[in-house]
Amino acid sequence: MDDERLDEASEDGIPPSPKRTAWCGELREGDVGRRVAVCGWVSARREHGEHLSFVDLRDYTGVVQCVVDSAAEARTESVLRIVGTVRLRPEGTENPKIPTGSVELVDCEVEVLSRAEPPPFLPSRSQHIDETTRLRHRYLDLRSERMQRNLRTRARVLRALRSAMDSMGFVEVETPLLVAATPEGARDFLVPSRLHRGKFYALPQSPQLFKQLCMVGGVDRYYQIARCLRDEDLRADRQFEFTQLDLEASFVGPDDVIEFVSSAVASAVEEVLGTRPSFETATWHEVMERYGTDKPDLRLGMELVDVSSVFAETEARVFRAPCVKGLRVPGGADVSRARLDRLTELAKSWGAGGLAWFRVAGGGVESPLARHVEREAPRLVEAMGAEDGDLLLLVADKRPTANEVLGRLRTHLGESVGAPGDLVFLWVVDFPLFEAVESGIPRPAHHPFTMPHPEDLPMLERWDYLDDEERLSVRSLAYDLVVNGWELGSGSIRITDPAVQALVFRLLGLSEEVARKRFGFLLEAFGYGAPPHGGFALGIDRFVAVLCGEENIREVIAFPKTQSGVDPLTGAPSEPDPLQLEELGIVVPGSGVPDESDQAIQNSTTI
Ligand code: AMO
Repeated sequence: MDDERLDEASEDGIPPSPKRTAWCGELREGDVGRRVAVCGWVSARREHGEHLSFVDLRDYTGVVQCVVDSAAEARTESVLRIVGTVRLRPEGTENPKIPTGSVELVDCEVEVLSRAEPPPFLPSRSQHIDETTRLRHRYLDLRSERMQRNLRTRARVLRALRSAMDSMGFVEVETPLLVAATPEGARDFLVPSRLHRGKFYALPQSPQLFKQLCMVGGVDRYYQIARCLRDEDLRADRQFEFTQLDLEASFVGPDDVIEFVSSAVASAVEEVLGTRPSFETATWHEVMERYGTDKPDLRLGMELVDVSSVFAETEARVFRAPCVKGLRVPGGADVSRARLDRLTELAKSWGAGGLAWFRVAGGGVESPLARHVEREAPRLVEAMGAEDGDLLLLVADKRPTANEVLGRLRTHLGESVGAPGDLVFLWVVDFPLFEAVESGIPRPAHHPFTMPHPEDLPMLERWDYLDDEERLSVRSLAYDLVVNGWELGSGSIRITDPAVQALVFRLLGLSEEVARKRFGFLLEAFGYGAPPHGGFALGIDRFVAVLCGEENIREVIAFPKTQSGVDPLTGAPSEPDPLQLEELGIVVPGSGVPDESDQAIQNSTTI
C-alpha cells in the first residue's frame, strides 16, 4: 500500500487502525488515487459477468462500492478487508443517493475475515421484521443505520450529561445493586441469598435511599448514571431495566434542582441537535386545567377552557354539572357525524357521561343540542375564542373527569403546530402530595420522603377534618420535567424533619414499626445530622428516544426485552439449574430434582 494515511480520523475523531486506513462511508473525490484498506460487512454484491463484480462494503460510517474480480466469496453480511485504489466512478454510474456515490475502489485485494451464513434478515430491512425475530438476532439489527445512529446518540448524551454534572461540582458515586426494597412503589425483582437461606435482596428500583444517605454522608452533590429495575407492565416508554441520570444535592430548594437539571439537559440537547432549548414552568394545577394531563405535549396548540360560568344557570340538564370544560378544534367543523360518534364513544370509555359537540357557523352553533343552549351559545363561542369552521367539544362532569377526558381528546386530535423536530420542555411544579385517597388512606404521588409544600403543612395537621378533595389538593415540593408529551423525569425536595416524616408515614398508614423496618436505617441516619436536600431522576432511555425521534425506548437500548419481558437472544428468563435452586433452598412447583449429571455440569461450569 503506497498511500496509507494512518492519521485519517472519522467524523467522530477516531483514527482507523493500521488494519484499515479509511472508513467506508467517508471516501470522497478528494481521496481519488489513494490506496486504502477498508474493513466491514458486505451489504450487497452484484455479479456483472466474468471479472466484473461489485461489493458494497459497510461499516458504521456508511457504504463504499468496490469493484472486484469475483464476488463469489463475498456472501452478504460476511466480514471483509478490502485493499483498493479510490477512483472516480465512470460517468453515468454515479449514485447521488449515497455520500460515497461518486467514487469506488478498484484493483481490489479481498480478504474474507469471516464468512456469514445467509442472515434471517438484512440489517437494512430490520424495521420491517417482527419484534421477536429482530431481538433474537439483535446483533444483525444493531448493524442497521438507525440502530448505529441511536446507540451513538445515546453515548453522546451520556457523555454530555456527565460532563455537565462534573462541571457543576457533582460527584459520581456508585450505589449497590443488591439492596433492601426501595420505595418507588413498583414491584421488586428479588434475588435469593444463598448464604442467608430464605432471605432475598431486591434489585433497586432507583438509588433513592442511597443518594439520600450520600447527603447525610456529606457528599453534597451526588450523581450517577444508574441502572434501575422495576417489575412493571412493559410499554413503549417502559422497560424492566432502564437508566436514570440520578442526582441529589444538599442545601437546595426546587429552583436549584430545576436549574441543575435544565443545564444538564440543555447541554445534551445542544450536543445532539446543535441548539440549546428553553424551559417553560407551570404548576401541576395549571397544566391539569389547561391540558388535562400532567405531561402535556405543548406542541399541540389547543387548550381546555373552563366554561362552567357560561352554563351556571342553564336549563339544559346535560350541562348542569360541577364543571363544564371545552376544547376548541380549529377548523374541525367539517368532521363527519360518524367520527363525532366515535369520539363520543371514546370519551365515554374514558369515563365521561357523554360528549357534547358544536359546529361553529355564522357566529352561532350547530348541534343536536343547539336548541337547548340558545341562550348560552353566543357566550360559549366567545369564551372559547371560537370562529366559524371550528368544532367545540364539551364535557360536563366532575372537574378531574372533565379535564382528563378532554385532555385525552386533545392528545388524540391535536396536530403539532411546530416543526417536527421541536422539543418543548416544561417543568411541572407543585405536584400534589397524594394521587388518590382510598378509605381515608392516601397513596403518595411520589415517594414517602417527598416534602409537603410548606404552605400546605397545616392542612396535614388538620387531616381528619378535610374532605377527600381537600386532601388531594395538598401540594408537595415535587416537580417533573416533561417534553412533547413524555414524562422525562421527576424529583422532589425531601423531608428531613423527623416530625413531618412521622406525620406523613402515619397518614400513609405506615405504622412506626413498619416504617422502622423498611426505612429505619435512613431515619436513623437522619438522626445524626441531615442537611436539607433534594434531587431528581431523568429517564435516559426516554430522553434519548425523544432526541432520536423514536416512539419506543426499545430503539435506543442495545439489548431490550420484548413487550412480554423476554430476551429472545439469550433466552432470559430461563429455568435455573435445579442444583442452583437447591443451594438457594428454593422449591419451584413442577421443577425437577437434581441428578448426578447436573452436579457434573455445575462443577465444570464457572462463568
Ligand atoms: P421516578 O420513579 O418518577 O422517580 O422515575 C424517574 C424517571 O425514570 C424513568 N422511568 C422509566 N423509564 C423506563 N422504564 C421504566 N420502567 C421507568 N420507570 C421510570 C422516567 C421517570 O420519569 N427516585 C425517584 C427520583 C427522585 O425523587 O429523585 C424516581 O425514581 O423517565
